[in-house]
Amino acid sequence: ATHKLLLLPGDGIGVEVMEEVKGLMKWLEARGLASFAIEEDLVGGAAFDAHGEAISDETMARAQAADAIIFGAVGGPKWDKVSYDKRPEAGLLRLRKDLDLFANLRPAICYPALADSSSLKREIVEGLDILIVRELTGGTYFGEPKEIVTLENGQRRAVDTQVYTTSEIERIARVAFELGRLRKNRVHSAEKRNVMKSGLLWNQVVTALHAAEYSDVNLEHILADNCAMQLVRNPKQFDVLVTDNLFGDILSDAAAMLTGSLGMLPSASLGAEDPVTGKRKALYEPVHGSAPDISGKGLANPIAELASFGMALRYSLDLGDIADALDRAIARVLSQGFRTGDIAAPGEKTVGTVEMGQAVITALEHE
Ligand code: NAI
Ligand code: MG
Repeated sequence: ATHKLLLLPGDGIGVEVMEEVKGLMKWLEARGLASFAIEEDLVGGAAFDAHGEAISDETMARAQAADAIIFGAVGGPKWDKVSYDKRPEAGLLRLRKDLDLFANLRPAICYPALADSSSLKREIVEGLDILIVRELTGGTYFGEPKEIVTLENGQRRAVDTQVYTTSEIERIARVAFELGRLRKNRVHSAEKRNVMKSGLLWNQVVTALHAAEYSDVNLEHILADNCAMQLVRNPKQFDVLVTDNLFGDILSDAAAMLTGSLGMLPSASLGAEDPVTGKRKALYEPVHGSAPDISGKGLANPIAELASFGMALRYSLDLGDIADALDRAIARVLSQGFRTGDIAAPGEKTVGTVEMGQAVITALEHE
C-alpha cells in the first residue's frame, strides 16, 4: 500500500531534523520496503510569514486526508510579538483540536549507551522502556469554568475545573489496553481517587472496561503521587502508564528526565478510530521545540524526529517490523559512539545532524 504522509517541518531545527526523516523515507522506498505519497506544507512561523496565520485551511484539509502527519517544531524569537491566535503554537493547537487528537503517547526509553546521562543511576534506568499514554483534550486544561474573578472583598479568585466524562475516559483507556497488548501486557492507570471525584470515575471506568474487554491485560491502579515516586524509585516496573491530561503532563516530563536528552524523545498524538476504515488520525512529533539557540548550524539531534517517524511506521502505517529495525539501528549508532552535542559527555567527539542521520541509515543497512 502507498501511505499518504503530510510533512510539516515548521521552524528552526524542525526543518533540519525533517531532512533526515526525508532521507530515511527515500532509503526505505529505494529498498522497496515502503511506498509513500508525500506532501509537504508550512506550519508555525513559516506559515505566518507566507499567509498570515499559523496554519491555513488548505493545510488543514491536507492534514485531514493524510494517513499520518509528521511534524517538526514551531516557534522562535522572530514571532514572539505575533498576536495570541496567530502565534506559531496556534498551528499545532489547531491540528490537535480539529483532528481531535486525544491520546498523547510518550515513550521513555533509556538506551544502554546513554544510561549514564540519566538523572538516576545506571542500574535503575538501563533498558527502561515505558510508554506514557496521556489524555490530551480534556481535564483541567480545558474544563469550564476557567476564570479569575475579583470578589467583593477585593480578593481575586482563580478557578480551573477538572472534568471528565465516561466516554472520554473509556476511549483513552482503550488506547492504553490496545498498546499494552502490543507490548508487555501491563497497564498502570494513575489518578487520585482518594481526593478527586474525577479520579474516582476514572478508576471505575477503567476497571469496568478492563473487566468487559481487556481482562487478559494486567491492570494496576496507582495513585498519581505514588506513581511519581515509583517513577524515580523503580521505573522499570512500568510498561504502559495511562493518566489524565494534568498528571500526564507532569509524569511524562519526569519520565523524560530518566532517559537523558530532549533531543531523543519522540511522541505521537492519536485520534478516534474511523468506524469504517478503522484508521486513526495521527500526528507524530519530537518532544523538543525549534531550539533557536542551535538552529541553522546543523547541530540538532535528529533522533527524536526519526523515532517519531518510527512511531508512525508502527501505529499508523502497519510497518512495525521496520519500526523495530529503526529502533535497533538507533541503539546501534549510540553504542558505536555517535553523539550530537546534546548527548555528548564533556570532551566527547560530536557529529552534526546530517552525520547522525546518515549513521542511522548505515546501521539500518546492516539490519
Ligand atoms: P527547545 O526544545 O526548543 O530547546 C530547549 C533546549 O534543548 C535548547 O538548549 C536546545 O538547543 C536543546 N534541544 C532541543 N532539541 C534538541 C535537539 N533535537 N538536538 C539538540 N539539542 C536540542 O525549547 P525552548 O528553547 O523552550 O523553545 C524554543 C522555541 O520552540 C520556542 O519558540 C517554543 O515556543 C518552541 N517550542 C515548540 C514546541 C513544538 O513545536 N512542539 C515544543 C516546545 C517549544
Ligand atoms: Mg509539559
